Amino acid sequence: MRFFLASALIALASAAPSKRSGSIIEPASGTTVSSGTSIQYSYVDQNWCEEGYTPITIWLSESAPTAVNSTGQLSPGTYIEYYGQYLINNFGLPVMQPVPPASLTIPDISAYGAGSSLFLTTVETALFGTCPGGVSQPAQYRFTSVSLTVA
Ligand SMILES: *[C@@H]1O[C@H](CO)[C@@H](O)[C@H](O)[C@H]1NC(C)=O
Repeated sequence: MRFFLASALIALASAAPSKRSGSIIEPASGTTVSSGTSIQYSYVDQNWCEEGYTPITIWLSESAPTAVNSTGQLSPGTYIEYYGQYLINNFGLPVMQPVPPASLTIPDISAYGAGSSLFLTTVETALFGTCPGGVSQPAQYRFTSVSLTVA
């Protein structure tokens, strides 16, 4: 029960991009996309729990997410593409696979009209028990999005 409440609070706290989320450096907000094009991707993690490796996931959706589900993912039916989970190495540690991709391929977005917006989101995870003093702290999730413009 306590875990459930904490998760619910985290989901609520994540409704607006917080200071504690990392930053999507690329693509820039408003980048033009069409089916099959490749866009540059770069994310700088916040690593608020000072982990050696920060797990992130990358998503494309029609509207900007306002919450993640209890496992830190976008709920089924709320996203267009899931680009997978990756690991960012912190503190100069050796890279661990899979590292975040340098580019992402836009799937078939022919259902979306020219000028409409899509959203690229990165969810950053702090694993169970990794926050300072947080022996049994549940996993924490923070996310941030940039808008993309359909060509
Ligand atoms: C969370 O979202 C993922 C991906 O959409 C889904 O597979 C999973 O079942 C969801 N979990 C819950 C608890 O709803």
